Amino acid sequence: MPRYARHIYRDGPHNPFPGIKVLERRLGYAIPHQLGSNEGLDMPHRALSARFGNAVSELARGYGDAEAMGVRQRLSAALGTPLEALLVDAGADSLIALALRATCEAGSPVVASAGTYPTFGYFAVGQGCTLHEVAYRDESGLLAPDLKALAEAANAHSAQLVYLANPDNPSGHLYDDAAIAGLRAALPAECTLLLDEAYHDFRPDADALSAGVAWPGVIRLRTLSKAHGLAGLRIGYAIAEPEAIEIMHKVRIHYAVSSLTLAAAETVLDHPAETREHVDAVIARRERLAGWLRELGADVPVSDTNFVAIRLPEADMAARVHRELLEAGSLIHRPPHPALGHVLRISAVEDALRPGRLTVLEKVLRTQ
Ligand SMILES: Cc1ncc(COP(=O)(O)O)c(C=O)c1O
Repeated sequence: MPRYARHIYRDGPHNPFPGIKVLERRLGYAIPHQLGSNEGLDMPHRALSARFGNAVSELARGYGDAEAMGVRQRLSAALGTPLEALLVDAGADSLIALALRATCEAGSPVVASAGTYPTFGYFAVGQGCTLHEVAYRDESGLLAPDLKALAEAANAHSAQLVYLANPDNPSGHLYDDAAIAGLRAALPAECTLLLDEAYHDFRPDADALSAGVAWPGVIRLRTLSKAHGLAGLRIGYAIAEPEAIEIMHKVRIHYAVSSLTLAAAETVLDHPAETREHVDAVIARRERLAGWLRELGADVPVSDTNFVAIRLPEADMAARVHRELLEAGSLIHRPPHPALGHVLRISAVEDALRPGRLTVLEKVLRTQ
């Protein structure tokens, strides 16, 4: 079983439009007269300038840097990761799709936890993969992906890809590096571990040296949607061995990340102190929310993310709370997978802590 989809081992496909920014870097000088890329307007769109300002309409007018060099350079400096081990794409979701495209073919077996972040399974099945799911560890004081069961299923089915969110969504559970290394070691050699680290920035050890390391056989995904507040602009990055990055580039939608998004990402990455401030505030709110819910008698597993999970005794109860809150105008999350139907997830936003906002849940917890 090869590590990547078999058709990718051929020479090519080669990106037909690496773009002007890439060419300028290769030539070592700026090209003053750009007459060949059919971008459309000579001038920025006036209505766009009026609404968003000239900076936005100027950025909108041209294709961005397909190699996201400015973003990768900043990430490389912050994480100590070599440039060739970093790939930028349109959010962690796009990177999940890209990892699937690079490693799997129709029929490829893939493994995930039943009830984890569902986009992985959605994309995997949409690509024709065979999805094998394993149950969570749902024990007193612990709700977490079952690493042993993931490894067993990967070996039993000769999986091409194993998906793990760490910290996990929706449980909030974090495994340390040693546990992840143990999982990697227990997987078949040619199986890739797709490690979704969308909530990485909320880990207590987010700045550890290991945070930027490309582990062999692992594709680590991160996003700027959470701690950096760019969910609507769509940007995330992968850390992986250069060979894996090269392979992913072969099948990547090369202009998926807009010029505006790249510029916004460069801006927030240039201001890490502000990001730290936001993350600290989220963590403090999460702990206030978890503390309040626990005082009401809720079963709230430890979370290292920007949300808290609550385990209710029954799925019916969780469905009712979810429905009645929505009727009252508040949308919390209930995982769509029946395996975690008894779980509710609430984002650590100030609005969740406003008196009366979660009355339906409060009443259910008080009468338990
Ligand atoms: C585990 C996990 N992965 C990926 C994503 C999506 O991230 P992005 O906005 O970068 O696509 C989310 C968003 O909630 C998530 O929880």
